[in-house]
Amino acid sequence: MTAISNKEVAEYVTIKEKIPLEIEENTIFNINTKKVTTLTHGFHKYPAKYIPQIPRWAIEKYANDSDFSQLILDPFCGSGTTLVESLLHGQNSIGIDIDPLSVLISKAKTTKIDSKLLDIIVEWILTEIQNRKEGTFKPDCEKIEHWFTKEAIHKLSIIRTIIDELPAKFGLNKEVKDIQDLMLICFSSIIRKASNADNQSQKTYVSHTKIKTPEEPNALFLRKIRLFQERIVAFSSKINKSQKSTIIHTNSSKPLTNYIAPNSIDLAVTSPPYIKAIDYIYNQMAELFWIGDLFDMQTQSQQNQKKKRYIGTKHIHKPEYAAYSPFEILTKNEQLNKNLQKIYSSDPKNGHKHAYLTYRYFLEMRQHFQQMHTILKQQSHYVMVVGNSSVSNVFIDTAKILIEIAESEGFKLVNKWGYKIKHRYMRFDRKGRGGIIKIDWVMDFVKIN
Ligand SMILES: C[S@@+](CC[C@H](N)C(=O)[O-])C[C@H]1O[C@@H](n2cnc3c(N)ncnc32)[C@H](O)[C@@H]1O
Repeated sequence: MTAISNKEVAEYVTIKEKIPLEIEENTIFNINTKKVTTLTHGFHKYPAKYIPQIPRWAIEKYANDSDFSQLILDPFCGSGTTLVESLLHGQNSIGIDIDPLSVLISKAKTTKIDSKLLDIIVEWILTEIQNRKEGTFKPDCEKIEHWFTKEAIHKLSIIRTIIDELPAKFGLNKEVKDIQDLMLICFSSIIRKASNADNQSQKTYVSHTKIKTPEEPNALFLRKIRLFQERIVAFSSKINKSQKSTIIHTNSSKPLTNYIAPNSIDLAVTSPPYIKAIDYIYNQMAELFWIGDLFDMQTQSQQNQKKKRYIGTKHIHKPEYAAYSPFEILTKNEQLNKNLQKIYSSDPKNGHKHAYLTYRYFLEMRQHFQQMHTILKQQSHYVMVVGNSSVSNVFIDTAKILIEIAESEGFKLVNKWGYKIKHRYMRFDRKGRGGIIKIDWVMDFVKIN
């Protein structure tokens, strides 16, 4: 295979909507579509979300049997893009993620809703918003007025209080709980725009140079609730009664084999975390002030505790890497060893830490491939999307290294192709800090022996 760096690729094959099922190796597409937020796909922003066309391609290629429902897994499901597409293609799915907000987003996007009950509840919520003078919910954050205006705090508190009351008003049952979760995600989806924080930055921060006027929460929520109502009803009408998506919140200490039976998965599609690039919790901080109590993640200290377990995290303390040296602890991959040594030596300030977290990333990804090998059926496909990156200015060919790891753990690469990343809300442009990811590589593996 010819290696293509992600830095300078001039030749793209422009396509409109559908990715062709047969693709010549190393093709790089420029996918010219605006249809990335259809049905429930656009419910909530999520860092490094991929476009639905990617899992759609894999499902149409490898899980297109209409007589038997296939089981599709996304082991890093994020906001549930793969799960939504699986259901739309008549297949069952399982999603796993460490991030509790992502689990709730995925649930809201994949759960069929009783439209009559939804109409009744939405009308009640909207009337209550008009009538209430105070909310009882208060965010557990001393500096909340840094993040939100007094007016926003007042109005958001009323909305959250009303959503909390749904089971008491409409009954403690699954149908109401599902609608309550949908409303929580609708509420969460307006938070960043209603806050003082920059709308688009990956990290949640209030800019003192680019002063923002927050959007008015009630108008925002009204707009969003109508959109959610219309989209979830359209989505529910396309899904059969028997199909379902199961979403599992992992704390990462248990292997995948704890949740999923051996040889049970027909197809896996995912985009794993990047090395050091995205702090999911930092990105969701404003939202977590308002719904983090549901996952014990409302305060910043609770949030910081949880960051350590994410694959690719940079929240690693010195004692963990003090004994690590890339010159003494070698991986099975020569290119990776060279990269780790270069990171270590060329960056006096952070090289030691960065080398260790990169080492750990690939170690965890190796364990991941071992577990995936157990739960996938023989000859089934694992389609994985990654972007290359750079750590301490050292270019890391993540795709190439992951291919070598996968192939040493019982997988065979059958194709590799790429696409240009365009949508700002889908993949974050890291402006050189972690290396700009311009291309996502789609690696198509098959499980052998
Ligand atoms: C690139 S995102 C996936 C985005 C997803 N494809 C989408 O469209 O929304 C990677 C995900 O891996 C999750 N993750 C990180 N460490 C994990 C772990 N140890 N176990 C499971 N999920 C993890 C993150 O929380 C994040 O949601």
